[in-house]
Amino acid sequence: MASSLRISKLLSRSFLSASTTSLSSRGSSGCIGTGLSKYSTEAAIEEPIKPSVQIEHNQLLINGQFVDSVSGKTFPTMDPRTGEVISHVAEGDREDVNLAVAAARKAFDQGPWTRMTAYERQRILLRAADLLEKHNDELAALESWDSGKPYEQSSKVEVPMLVHLFRYYAGWADKIHGLTVPADGPYHVQTLHEPIGVAGQIIPWNFPLLMFGWKVGPALACGNTIVLKTAEQTPLSALYASKLLHEAGLPPGVLNIVSGFGPTAGAAIATHMDVDKIAFTGSTATGRVVLELAARSNLKTVTLELGGKSPFIVCEDADVDRAVELAHFALFFNQGQCCCAGSRTFVHESVYDEFVEKSRERALKRVVGDPFKAGVEQGPQIDSAQFKKILKYIKSGVESGATLEAGGERFGDKGFYVQPTVFSNVQDDMLIAKEEIFGPVQSILKFKDLDDVIRRANDSPYGLAAGVFTKNIDTANTLTRALRAGSVFVNCYDVFDAGVPFGGYKMSGHGREKGEYGLKNYLQVKAVVTPLINPAWL
Ligand code: NAI
Ligand code: MG
Repeated sequence: MASSLRISKLLSRSFLSASTTSLSSRGSSGCIGTGLSKYSTEAAIEEPIKPSVQIEHNQLLINGQFVDSVSGKTFPTMDPRTGEVISHVAEGDREDVNLAVAAARKAFDQGPWTRMTAYERQRILLRAADLLEKHNDELAALESWDSGKPYEQSSKVEVPMLVHLFRYYAGWADKIHGLTVPADGPYHVQTLHEPIGVAGQIIPWNFPLLMFGWKVGPALACGNTIVLKTAEQTPLSALYASKLLHEAGLPPGVLNIVSGFGPTAGAAIATHMDVDKIAFTGSTATGRVVLELAARSNLKTVTLELGGKSPFIVCEDADVDRAVELAHFALFFNQGQCCCAGSRTFVHESVYDEFVEKSRERALKRVVGDPFKAGVEQGPQIDSAQFKKILKYIKSGVESGATLEAGGERFGDKGFYVQPTVFSNVQDDMLIAKEEIFGPVQSILKFKDLDDVIRRANDSPYGLAAGVFTKNIDTANTLTRALRAGSVFVNCYDVFDAGVPFGGYKMSGHGREKGEYGLKNYLQVKAVVTPLINPAWL
């Protein structure tokens, strides 16, 4: 409990400080002809800072061994600051997935993992948490190098969250148990909560280590074995973390990592007849494919954590300065690459103009630059595809008549940096208000009253998260009940404590991750019925 409180304080501090410490003039250098401030390109064109970590692991991890892929193929993983290759990583395909699933199946069916006591599993998870914590800096450096996110965010927030998550689920390992159920007859009825078996897990690139933890932590606490595919953009940190889990005592075959691409390695996991469950995080389009693949193979259960277009609602009673800061954080955090980004900023008409002006000023002060430089708030986007997609959405925003208040262009002249961008006068039917941009592009919409904003906020195929900013408890209660979203943050945003469930309504997904709810994805219930034949017991 103490640890949970400590970490959650750290999180709120770190997340908020990530958005508040740099109201300096570092990123902005005055106005030019368009009326828009231009961002300093100084940080982006500097020679990239060299991360202080060696790449020790770039092979597949199967049955406790680092091995090359069967085909011998590799793929490059890039540094998003420059687009240069960091490392060539073994590329898994169907044959490698077959080997990984066979190892996971054997580890599940024959033990020792599934036959050790829950307390023994708990101790391995606790040792794993200690080792992850000890190697915080190496993990954070790999994470930032491979994904471009600020090192301060990786080292002070994300790795500590990963550690907390492992301790949290270690705590659950020996507290998972069934019930005794009364029967209308001479029977003793009990339920056993058993692991599902081999879990196939497919994760994205926006939070590689955290997604690794959200998937692996609960699966292991429940006694499952795993075949996990990392995203092709960010294979490195999960390999390092998995090495540490093995040092902590995880038996061979329990956790297998197959780096590779979606249509090959990912699809091989989703269709495998010996994989009992899939947990997927990524786009809604790919989530649909994974669900179809699972349905066409062995009907394995599927949990999906997908896209979003989350509303962030600023009410008329809001303290505008605080609302601006929080809305800025809700959208721009992690380069805007968050499934739950507050990407539709709805602002009450009475404070709209002031809010827009202050949001513009805040975006212009956002510090963009080398993620390894202290004080940088925003690094590059993950890759060229995402970079181009974001610039296309910005163009579409301009063409559809939204007002470009800040940004709108690439930042610097190399890598995948995008200027923090703000649009006002955004209308509900514009693409930038409907589709997931997954980048540093804030869309500000105006609303009249609560009925108006509730209807428009819910008018989306997505339902992942929502933000509400108000001092009025009645308004807060009305909105939290009316919004169709898996998470509603009131006067805060992106609080991802290990115990707080996360997942989507509507097309944002199936199931919940984290917390006690997250265990349900990895357990199945067995009813055991025994006659009570001794009359003395009746
Ligand atoms: P994606 O959904 O295609 O990729 C996520 C994971 O799925 C990766 O590991 C990928 O290799 C795997 N995958 C891809 N095709 C697959 C298949 N046929 N079978 C099995 N696995 C497969 O997302 P992508 O292409 O990286 O990004 C596209 C968009 O998705 C982003 O612009 C963003 O809008 C959204 N996205 C949402 C995320 C979230 O957290 N919900 C995370 C990443 C992307
Ligand atoms: Mg990379």
